[in-house]
Amino acid sequence: MKITPIILAAGKGTRMNSSLPKVLHPIGGKPMLEHVIDCCRALDAERISIVYGHGAEVVQETISASDDLCWALQKEQLGTGHAVLQAKEFIDDDAIIVIAYGDVPLIKADTLRLLQQDITAGSDLSILTTKLADPIGYGRIIRDSQGQMTSIVEEKDATDEQRLINEGNTGFLAAKGKDLLRWLNLIKSDNAQGEYYLTDCIAFASNEGANVTTVLCEHELEVLGVNDRSQQSILEREYQRLQTDKLLQSGVSIIDPKRCDVRGVLTAGKDVVIDVNNVFIGNVVLGNNVVIEPNCIIQDCRIADNVTIKANSVLESATIGSHCHIGPFARVRPETVIKDHAKVGNFVEIKKTLIGEGSKVSHLSYIGDTTMGKSVNIGAGTITCNYDGANKFQTIIGDNVFVGSDTQLVAPVTLGDGANIGAGSTITRDAPAATLTLSRSKQINIKGWKRPVKSK
Ligand code: UD1
Ligand code: CA
Repeated sequence: MKITPIILAAGKGTRMNSSLPKVLHPIGGKPMLEHVIDCCRALDAERISIVYGHGAEVVQETISASDDLCWALQKEQLGTGHAVLQAKEFIDDDAIIVIAYGDVPLIKADTLRLLQQDITAGSDLSILTTKLADPIGYGRIIRDSQGQMTSIVEEKDATDEQRLINEGNTGFLAAKGKDLLRWLNLIKSDNAQGEYYLTDCIAFASNEGANVTTVLCEHELEVLGVNDRSQQSILEREYQRLQTDKLLQSGVSIIDPKRCDVRGVLTAGKDVVIDVNNVFIGNVVLGNNVVIEPNCIIQDCRIADNVTIKANSVLESATIGSHCHIGPFARVRPETVIKDHAKVGNFVEIKKTLIGEGSKVSHLSYIGDTTMGKSVNIGAGTITCNYDGANKFQTIIGDNVFVGSDTQLVAPVTLGDGANIGAGSTITRDAPAATLTLSRSKQINIKGWKRPVKSK
């Protein structure tokens, strides 16, 4: 049987106090709704319907269009049952429909698969429940004397006795399309909240004599919904715990998993060490024996084997070859390629540049829009003047070039192979290969010169 989940994502999220629709708030740098979509995709869903409403435009713009996504607009939020009905054109009679929630981001595909399997095995309606220390706010699972589930009573409609039940409704459920549609059409809004409750389906099914089954979810946080920033932060930490757990199990050494955040996908080779306070964003690939010292931010980078990223470095969209040393306090900006055995030292900014094999930019430099050959040594304080206020220009540096400290290379400019630039030069014309070039005014020594003295 094909599976076609429906994700409810129309709610406003008043308690987020935000102009961003709730389901777009991130967990691990990714909108919550996208986590749920990815989970549904992992079920091999043939199509995923999203019921959206609040912030409709932004929600649709943010989630990248894809053939497997169908959008159903819910103009007014009249309840979860009403929400599912908005997607009725996407409910096929013979498909398994799984209901999921755009604000419950940590749900696992393995858990939803249990609901799906229930239906395949002959259940008519499978409900995901959870045992709660504090079930307040949750719909309560009502069972008969045989333990068979017969209905869900919402908190606001529950009697004092029903409120004592600690088995809560997670909201996730599965049923065949034709059954779900039949029950949905019976839902009325005659309850404490005047809403069309999806949860009324359970009583309708039970009254029909349908086979209603439950799956108990052991992990409260997996089914926790986000209604405010505090719950979001709880789930963020849980998500990070899950990420770092996976990395630890795969053999990565993380000095303090509570101080390592992955907002995207981090892939790491063997014997990688990640020290404290590191943030990985987007797609980051680390080779074998990479060491990330404390306080680095690394975004969309490929870092080859045996590289050390020293403390307090910020790298974005760069490719780093093997045996490189980067930092401390380095800033490597997009479109930078650093070849093997190169060194980028402290207070160095590199942008849109190729640094050749074994080349060194060790201290206090800005190197931008540059192509640099092999075994180059860039002295402290060297600046590529790549911008004239309107346009950017290239600097080309050959192999084995030595640039003395405090040099300005005014682009466009080329330094030939083996060129030597005297310290303190301002280079405005090409420097020939294997030549000493300098542009420094001659030193004069004034004998007997007196220092000024303070006037009284
Ligand atoms: C719902 C369940 C409750 C369960 C709880 C778990 C119902 C009637 N109650 O209650 O049994 O214990 O979730 O958190 O289903 N939504 C829409 N459109 C609507 C209404 C809701 O898209 O018209 C979405 C919301 O954005 C939210 C989700 O559905 O993501 C749940 O809605 P909410 O109103 O928060 O339901 P609860 O009262 O929490
Ligand atoms: Ca809720």
